[in-house]
Amino acid sequence: MRVAVVGGGIIGLAIGRELLRRNADVTVYDPAPAGTGGAWHVAAGMLAPGGESAFEFPFLEPLLAASNELWPAFADELGDVGYDDAGTLSVALTADDLAEARREWAHQKLTTLTGSQARDLEPALSPRVRAGAFAPTERQVDPRKVVAALRRALNGRIVRRNISNLSEMEGRVIVAAGCGTATLTGLPIRLVKGQILRLRGEPGLLKHVVDGAADGRHVYLVPRADGEVVVGATQEERSDRAITAGGVHDLLRAALDLVPGLSEHEIAEWTVGHRPGTPDNAPIIGALNDRVIVAAGHHRNGVLLAPITARLVADLVLTGAADPLIDAFTPGRFGCA
Ligand code: GLY
Repeated sequence: MRVAVVGGGIIGLAIGRELLRRNADVTVYDPAPAGTGGAWHVAAGMLAPGGESAFEFPFLEPLLAASNELWPAFADELGDVGYDDAGTLSVALTADDLAEARREWAHQKLTTLTGSQARDLEPALSPRVRAGAFAPTERQVDPRKVVAALRRALNGRIVRRNISNLSEMEGRVIVAAGCGTATLTGLPIRLVKGQILRLRGEPGLLKHVVDGAADGRHVYLVPRADGEVVVGATQEERSDRAITAGGVHDLLRAALDLVPGLSEHEIAEWTVGHRPGTPDNAPIIGALNDRVIVAAGHHRNGVLLAPITARLVADLVLTGAADPLIDAFTPGRFGCA
């Protein structure tokens, strides 16, 4: 079967690879096939089904959990993508931070640790950290390595072309164009700005992903094996690409309040990107009409949801079977199918 995928970000590439594995004649179209414009380039790569599901659209939780289960094998097949399953330590600095965190930890059924128990797990934490909770099933990957591996897997099947109208395309079409999906389909996908920093220092300062709040400033710290620490991310309902003094200040202030040893790290990169958000901030996965399937709007969870999205969309295209898991995510919930 011939299938066109519009969009060469992490979702479009994962779908393309899955279709290729199942012997479909797939082509992925992207205006910049080797580019760095996608949300994946900015993403830290936390695979955090618990941390990202709290109090969200409730149907999201089983989808996040199902994709998290697929990640170990998906990473294994792709090769070195920085997969690390050390887990996430969530922490709170002040009494107010702890009051907010307790609700999330209870929702995730995590045990609250004292500050010193949290420091036993992660000695670089500030002595001011009041409490923590450890999520052992959360993981991380390096999204830039994931995309490079997916591009290699699709060698020769990624074509440079800017699709501006779906009527240009023949046959089955999958639209996985992130924020660009809105203009192609009319679906309500908005840009949610995120500023993010990459610090660089001696490897080993942090052993886990650290996710937390310091005086109301939320931050996550994602340590890579080579000494990079990704510090993310602002979440702003804006479409501009400005890197702002306030955004960088808040990220660094929270990072250094929680892990003072990061002050010796070099600032290696500051970047801005946009998450594709929907009205309920859950993805859109399903048929728009007889010919077009949409897989977009993954907001904060594009990296985590790539394997399950690829599997569900490939099932839909090749067998016509819609897994009940996607019932809650169809374009029809916004009156668009
Ligand atoms: N998944 C984390 C973020 O979007 O910032």
